[in-house]
Amino acid sequence: MSLATLQQKITAKTAGIGIIGLGYVGLPVACLFAEAGFPVTGVDVKAERVALINAGKSPIEGREPGLAELLAAVVAEGRLRATMQYADLQTCDVITINVETPVDEQHIPRYAALQSALRALGPVLKSGALVIVESTIAPGTMARLVKPLLEETSGKRANADFYLGHCPERVMPGKLLANLRGVSRVCGGETPETAEVMMALYRHIVQAELDPADCVTAELVKTAENAYRDVNIAFANEVALICEAVGGDVWKVRELVNKSPGRNMLLPGAGVGGHCIPKDPWLLAYQAQANGAPVRLIPAARAVNDGMPFHIAALLEDALREAGKPLAGARVLVLGYAYLEDSDDTRNSPSAALVAHLRARGVEVVIHDPYVAEYQGDVYALAEGCDAVVVMVAHSAYRALDLEALKNALCGPIMVAGRRVFSRPAGWIYRGVGEGTNQA
Ligand SMILES: NC(=O)c1ccc[n+]([C@@H]2O[C@H](COP(=O)([O-])OP(=O)(O)OC[C@H]3O[C@@H](n4cnc5c(N)ncnc54)[C@H](O)[C@@H]3O)[C@@H](O)[C@H]2O)c1
Repeated sequence: MSLATLQQKITAKTAGIGIIGLGYVGLPVACLFAEAGFPVTGVDVKAERVALINAGKSPIEGREPGLAELLAAVVAEGRLRATMQYADLQTCDVITINVETPVDEQHIPRYAALQSALRALGPVLKSGALVIVESTIAPGTMARLVKPLLEETSGKRANADFYLGHCPERVMPGKLLANLRGVSRVCGGETPETAEVMMALYRHIVQAELDPADCVTAELVKTAENAYRDVNIAFANEVALICEAVGGDVWKVRELVNKSPGRNMLLPGAGVGGHCIPKDPWLLAYQAQANGAPVRLIPAARAVNDGMPFHIAALLEDALREAGKPLAGARVLVLGYAYLEDSDDTRNSPSAALVAHLRARGVEVVIHDPYVAEYQGDVYALAEGCDAVVVMVAHSAYRALDLEALKNALCGPIMVAGRRVFSRPAGWIYRGVGEGTNQA
């Protein structure tokens, strides 16, 4: 099949679409292509996830406006089907790959899922199909890994027997459908012609700008935009730590800094989590570091952000000390285990780092999170017998908490705020990120 024929099938919505990896990204992408009128086949290695999707039920627990309804509708209409069999992709004209792409403890990309997807796809790849990697990857990965592995496993040549592109995602949990529809995308093609066909494809689901590019540019843009965010959060966190050290209030400082033209200081907090922001800066830096290029700012920002949960522990120790209690042996309620407000996503959660650190220091930790099944429960009941509460996530439910009832349930009125849900509440021994203790 030529690119021109493929483009005609895309325009006519007769192109079969395969989505490999039905997680936070792949599932809403599959739903949107099905909603647009394409026949969609989703592949995942998790049997339970596949079964849930085929029953029209979303496996994502957090607040995702519209996703559960859309999934139920497209499954009921027979336009989306999930499977564990790669053989079901052999009739697909377009295949997107949306598997996880983590880094290991040495910050090296771990592409086990991507490689296994490519190895399984190669033998069933239809001639003339377009394969688009949507997963975030280190610059150079399309050329070094994806293209050679797919050529090897399919026995076909890229840009002749199949086409290849990279169109990274810009979604965020909590806004998956809205981001997919409304945020612009970079369509990186192995050739300019492939990029054009990709733009025709994404036009069916994206209402924002689509920018054609080559693959390495798309790889660089995605990893750079997330590194940009990480570095900027690290800056806010560093200013917060400076405010604490000199007795200032980072919230006031931030407000006034942002009155200066061109400044947009972000919010400080308890750390940076999720699948993407903590690892994408390492993906950006990976090949350059391997080639000996100087990469200094990105590791420094990572260190600042990774240090924040330990800083929360230090604030807790300080607050307990004021109440005459040692950290070791204390019982502490941690509010929020997801990495993001109103989400169930616990990947790389700063709370996990805090909890592990506290437990290693002899603290008895009680965890609550309204979106994480194992940590659901009544906050006030969980607070009974606890010496302090640590607010790690700004879930909406926490804003509605009755502080008097919480204080009465705790053994003492001690609060540490990694996120500013309550504004320096009266009558508490209180420590907040960036809130110096010597102010009113
Ligand atoms: N989560 C986000 O907000 C977000 C935003 C932008 C980009 N991304 C990127 O998108 C990619 C996917 O992220 P995610 O959050 O959806 O991950 P996820 O873990 O939620 O989903 C990945 C899915 O792929 C499946 N999978 C793994 N190996 C497979 C294989 N060989 N064959 C078939 N399925 C397989 C897993 O079972 C899982 O369901 C990553 O590269 C991530 O960096 C994520």
